[in-house]
Amino acid sequence: MTLQAIRYQRGSLEILDQLLLPEISKYISINNTDEGWRAIKSMQVRGAPAIAIVGCLSLAIELTNKEFQSTQELKDFVVEKLDYLVSARPTAVNIADAADKGKSMIQKLIDDEKLELDEIKLKLVQEFEAMLQADIDVNKRIGQHGADYILGENNDQPVKVITHCNTGSLATAGYGTALGVIRSLHEQNKLEHVYCTETRPYNQGARLTAYELVHEKMEASLICDNMAAACMSSNKIHAVIVGADRVVANGDTANKIGTYQLAIVAKYHGVPFYVACPRTTFDPHIKSGKDIHIEIRPQDEMTTLKGIRIAAPNIRCWNPAFDVTPAELITGGIITEFGVFKPQELQKQISKILGSG
Ligand code: MRU
Repeated sequence: MTLQAIRYQRGSLEILDQLLLPEISKYISINNTDEGWRAIKSMQVRGAPAIAIVGCLSLAIELTNKEFQSTQELKDFVVEKLDYLVSARPTAVNIADAADKGKSMIQKLIDDEKLELDEIKLKLVQEFEAMLQADIDVNKRIGQHGADYILGENNDQPVKVITHCNTGSLATAGYGTALGVIRSLHEQNKLEHVYCTETRPYNQGARLTAYELVHEKMEASLICDNMAAACMSSNKIHAVIVGADRVVANGDTANKIGTYQLAIVAKYHGVPFYVACPRTTFDPHIKSGKDIHIEIRPQDEMTTLKGIRIAAPNIRCWNPAFDVTPAELITGGIITEFGVFKPQELQKQISKILGSG
């Protein structure tokens, strides 16, 4: 299996079908925004940064292949398609952030009267293309900041960590967020052991993260989600490190279902809990985690495994894809490309860094 979720060249976009992993490594072509939307919705591509990049690149493909008669037609098309892509999955905010940037960029380009229609289209396509390398660069900075901080808290000694869901190469353009921090620890020979949770019901941990850990030859063990408390009580765990799909103004964080209980267990055991994510996961428009829209997934994702029923017939299921971890449980901090911040400080710090506050 290869660890590149997204392959792109102008006019051609392929994604690794993550529904088939780890048994089958198969790339599928995405030729337009309809196919991009469907790949996101069906979870053939998943993970907040990867969703945003694939969505925008599916639009880049469509723009490359389509002719427009006027800048107004181009603008209406881009705005409509971006809104459509955002609707595929509601919780991860990165694609909404990318859509907002795309919309303001096209307006700016149109306002620049020196630019011809084709130049505007090309600049927009280039903007979407730049997301791939930018994501890898940001993830490397997250990895470095997180590893430095965690080692600083542990006298530079090798650490044992727990992670949840998938935040590695397949959930991003490359390197990963929480897994980027773990990768950076490993690169510095400071990773003693990583425990990754299975992450029911979609098993992103068992299928994707575990594959990546083995592939990278990290010292790693898989645990079921319900083993986290036992793992913390029978091992000295130095940190829990997870990703995020949306961090809101007060520092509350939405991430894969099971993150919240992991944070509670970590607090009980005095283990610092870290969230690693890029700035694009930060949503200052929502005040508190209570207002985050949590996606509810189909019941059969819980009752069947590869088409085989594993639950009693006729039982109903509640299947939220994400949960919200309150800021007070993020005791270690939020690791970003700009540094590590206490969740309650994040908004102030980011505004200061970006020069808007
Ligand atoms: O439903 P998924 O597989 O898209 O959920 C993925 C997660 O929750 C990840 O932990 C999160 O997106 C962080 S990705 C770097």
